[in-house]
Amino acid sequence: MKTITIYQQEGYKELGDLYGLFFEDINHAADGGLYGELVQNRSFEFCEVDKPEYHSLTAWEKSDNLVWSVETGNPLNKENTHYLHVEAKKGSCIRNQGYNSGIYVEAGKNYDFSVYLRTTISAKITIAVRTDEGKLCAEAALMVGKEKELSDVGDWYKYELVLTATETTYEGRLVLTFEEGVYDLDMVSLFPQDTFLGKKGGLRRDIAEALQEMKPKFMRFPGGCLVHDGSLNDKDRNSMYRWRRTLGPVEERPTWRNNWRYNQTLGLGYYEYFCFCEEIGAKPLPVLPGGFNPHKGEGVPMEDLQEWVQEALDLVEFANGTADSKWGAVRAGMGHPESFGLEYLGIGNEEIGEGFFERYPYFHNAIRAKYPEIKLINTAGPFSVGEGYEDGWNSARKYGSDLVDEHYYSSPEWFLANMHHYDDFDEKGPKVFLGGYASWGNTFYNALVEAAYMTHLEKAKAVALACYAPMLCNVDYVNWKPDMLWFDNHRILKTPNYYVQKLFMSNQGTAEVAYSTSDLDEVIVLTDNPALHGDITIMGNDVEGRIWDITFTNTATGESRKLPDFMVDKENVENYLTEAACDNYSLEFSFKRSAGRKGLKIYFGKKDSDNSILWEFGGWDNWDCNLTEISMAEVQLFPIESSMWRIWNTVCVWRFADVISEPLLMAKFTMILWIDCRS
Ligand code: AHR
Repeated sequence: MKTITIYQQEGYKELGDLYGLFFEDINHAADGGLYGELVQNRSFEFCEVDKPEYHSLTAWEKSDNLVWSVETGNPLNKENTHYLHVEAKKGSCIRNQGYNSGIYVEAGKNYDFSVYLRTTISAKITIAVRTDEGKLCAEAALMVGKEKELSDVGDWYKYELVLTATETTYEGRLVLTFEEGVYDLDMVSLFPQDTFLGKKGGLRRDIAEALQEMKPKFMRFPGGCLVHDGSLNDKDRNSMYRWRRTLGPVEERPTWRNNWRYNQTLGLGYYEYFCFCEEIGAKPLPVLPGGFNPHKGEGVPMEDLQEWVQEALDLVEFANGTADSKWGAVRAGMGHPESFGLEYLGIGNEEIGEGFFERYPYFHNAIRAKYPEIKLINTAGPFSVGEGYEDGWNSARKYGSDLVDEHYYSSPEWFLANMHHYDDFDEKGPKVFLGGYASWGNTFYNALVEAAYMTHLEKAKAVALACYAPMLCNVDYVNWKPDMLWFDNHRILKTPNYYVQKLFMSNQGTAEVAYSTSDLDEVIVLTDNPALHGDITIMGNDVEGRIWDITFTNTATGESRKLPDFMVDKENVENYLTEAACDNYSLEFSFKRSAGRKGLKIYFGKKDSDNSILWEFGGWDNWDCNLTEISMAEVQLFPIESSMWRIWNTVCVWRFADVISEPLLMAKFTMILWIDCRS
């Protein structure tokens, strides 16, 4: 008889906070996403640093009979330096396009409009939502200039009104129609009143509720690469994400470049992240930059590091300090006198490079000394193997980090092949925080594979926390695929991956109990993977160099042939080597790089340009080694274990041995690489 026996009393593993969310402002997850603001570029601060095609009037239009300019003299405040200066004729107007197809308003619902305005006259401005075809969906009159004596000329004044939609549209424009006069405008804003929990200026309800329904145990924020990809000066437009600059009244927050190539208003800042975590019952898990940008290999000078360490200490005080502490008082002033109960803090996100690991201990030691109760998270790079990964784990073991943040995105086959990835991890050392993972795709198959993988995350004693990434994607602003929840300006799409995450999260128990099985059916593995016949080509990846001593061998027969030498050039031209018609073969060659930073791309099993396997060495700024299957324009990644994946300017003898096309379930081939580096 087939049986599964569950030993209720035998605790196997405490599950704690295992399943949570990862919010990153990628794919317009915040502005044009979870953050409920309907106006795009509300403060005229967009600029080309955010994205080359942006400018201060992005998303704005005007009628022909209106003269406008963006000015900076006598601005609203020192963070909000641009504003719109308008010289209007009667009936002239400005319009904002919103996000996606436009501004979404629903008949019968109320919307909060506000604007900072400066004028010397008393006048009526008509505020409306209408479509380009002229359908009027909401309208109200705003009287300006009356609240202030005219002697107050020059002062900014905030005006507010409520618009009630009479028609529904997904293609609305916010239209401000003027009487003749001169006006300065800033922070032109429109929010639905129907936000998550009805908060004014709050979050988009449908997205927030979809996340709340999952019952996450924690939420990581605000990134991702968003955290560390930027300049080291927090006054710079392209600054790294610095939490202290995201607090206070929204009109006094800077707007920044978002490293995913758009603008972030920071309307959704650290205070709002903490509140949202509390509202959905998730423990907050902020991740701070560690004073090092791995994308540029640039670190804050060691003599200035203390300032960054202090920023981390201040964050703990902001979250947990009493209302009479310096940063606790800031939190209380924003409306939350109680502690946010911070337990976890990440330092760094995928920071590979010595620069980070030199700096990490300063954060670690200072936070440990002052707040020993905080669980500190170190970082192990962007792949499941490799030098950065090992460095992260070594650093975590050396300093006693509580957790290590691992990230990987791979094919479903990789996940199937690696179900037991964590079985042998030392449960006594730092625990695994699988802080960003997904199989490449949003199909039912992907979700099923992720579900299978998650059953092993539950079992593996070394795994403490896990979250899928990325979480949100606006369909019209895609930086990264796949994603868990997709949305446009009025709809959300819950993917199969979302439902799997929700299933595991909302049903997470407190402990995994022991069980045993008997007489279950044997698993039968069926595959029909074809042999990897096809062309072999080599291409430089932004490098120059010479390849010689090239030998192709049929390893079954021992037959081999010499191939002609060639140069790789920086034009990234693909060089044809030979056709592999046999099932098992090896390829050997010598390579010397003479210029450039990256490495080589070797294509094999190539049928045509859309169909091959790519083995890339020294990608991602010479950090990365991947096997990629290119088929039907779909790219699947297999990170490869190798401690010698970086390309040096030495003579390397490469030997790809035993390319075996055996039909295995998990991998279509086995490849062994020797690189013999000689100076
Ligand atoms: O989840 C998207 C990106 O993938 C994150 O920014 C990065 O940290 C991760 O590797």
